[in-house]
Amino acid sequence: MDMLVVQGGQPLRGRVTVGGAKNAALPIMAAAIAATGTTILRGVPDLVDVITLSHVLRSLGMTVERCGDGSLQLNAVDERPCLADYELVRRMRASVCVLGPLLSRRRRACVSLPGGCNIGHRPIDLHLKGLRALGAEITIERGYVFAHADRLRGADIYLGGSFGSTVTGTCNVLSAAVLAKGTTTISGAACEPEVVDLGDFLNAMGAKITGLGTPLLQIQGVSELNSVEYTVIPDRIEAATLLIAGAITRGELEVDNLRTSQLAAVIDILRGIGATIDIQGESACVSMSSAPVPIDVTALPYPGIPTDVQAQLTALLTLAQGISVVTDKVFPDRFMHLPEMMRMGANVRREGACGIISGVTHLSGACVMASDLRASAALLLASMAAKGESVIRRIYHLDRGYDHLERKLNSVGAQIRRVTDNADNLPTSLMLSLEDQASPVVDSSDMPPPPKYLLGRSTTRQATFDSSDH
Ligand code: EPZ
Repeated sequence: MDMLVVQGGQPLRGRVTVGGAKNAALPIMAAAIAATGTTILRGVPDLVDVITLSHVLRSLGMTVERCGDGSLQLNAVDERPCLADYELVRRMRASVCVLGPLLSRRRRACVSLPGGCNIGHRPIDLHLKGLRALGAEITIERGYVFAHADRLRGADIYLGGSFGSTVTGTCNVLSAAVLAKGTTTISGAACEPEVVDLGDFLNAMGAKITGLGTPLLQIQGVSELNSVEYTVIPDRIEAATLLIAGAITRGELEVDNLRTSQLAAVIDILRGIGATIDIQGESACVSMSSAPVPIDVTALPYPGIPTDVQAQLTALLTLAQGISVVTDKVFPDRFMHLPEMMRMGANVRREGACGIISGVTHLSGACVMASDLRASAALLLASMAAKGESVIRRIYHLDRGYDHLERKLNSVGAQIRRVTDNADNLPTSLMLSLEDQASPVVDSSDMPPPPKYLLGRSTTRQATFDSSDH
């Protein structure tokens, strides 16, 4: 298992390029199940979630190959399998996106329920509601969704839920409706660019979808989808993460290959916080020379502030000149990053679906633990702004959703090392010596012996332990 060791205080300067969108690539890969022939996808990022879904698709009779030019080739060579096993789905809940394509193409599916995760309760009731409306017979037994349909038929479906629209729910129902008999309308559909990208991909294969990007989709069912070559859109969440990295380190960073129209809310809020953002076509240059301005921000379904950017914004606001409020209306429990930021000196607390952030003048490096994908990115941003060294553990969360993010950041001045997670790789600056432990009222000779993993370390701080000779 790896961890990141970060030397904070390095302003980012230079240019970075945004990769392909994870949350577009995943449903598009799944939709290739419904295609006849070989699908070629370009711009699919090289990250763990893509690798996991590739395994799921192979277990479903697909070949999935990464070619020399970076493209992904997918082909359904055996259409008999229909089981997406728990051992794979539990690693990535987005595997549930295979449900719609399996039903529409193979008329049956057995997909493990995805289970929960650290950002909150994540049911799939709306997915199942939409598929049932299309005529699928669905039961849930032993942790699996069993679904089959002799022929899906068009229906009028409302897909909104108590937290707004559902992104992967819309993807699943859309991927099923395109091969249903007759016309389907989906109201309360998700408008996220990743859903639009899936719809554009399906239309390129011969589907007939209108209304993409609006809450009302209309689908005229067709009998077959033909495989195509397709390029996935850039990742707006990675783009937002990079823009915030430039701001939090008080640098000047050019971020290329982004769609500014998909980042309107993020750019607006960063400008409100005091960042300068100059836009040139598909590039944006971010700079920030003073402390952030505190704000009240709410994460909402698109086109609002993405919930996937909430933690990263929180990191930036820990250094604001005053009190900020960050509310998440999509995942009200998505605040596991707050206690870790407190370890770095942030003054934050949670009040229900809100994080209350009282800005501090600086963060200090510490050992912290990632809890989910975007929380790990937020802790990386905070550690780059902090004074001193930080260690971020459980970065397998980061690797699920970012394509070697530390390489990109190091190319513009960050100092991040990926090392094996063990005591020998802990920076001595994060080791407490007796001086650190000593307090004005306690004689250091009364201090307990240092932890075993410190014994024998050849460092000046360790010398203090040895000289006290206890
Ligand atoms: C997608 O998750 C993204 N994942 C998430 O990104 C993102 O945070 C989320 O959309 C919201 O934008 C992928 O696209 C792979 P939802 P998804 O269904 O589809 C409730 C990341 O970091 N809901 O839009 O699972 C749900 O509990 C990931 O890249 C129901 O109630 O999210 C939530 O409160 C994390 N019933 C809200 O809707 C349902 O059947 C939005 O969830 C489905 C969802």
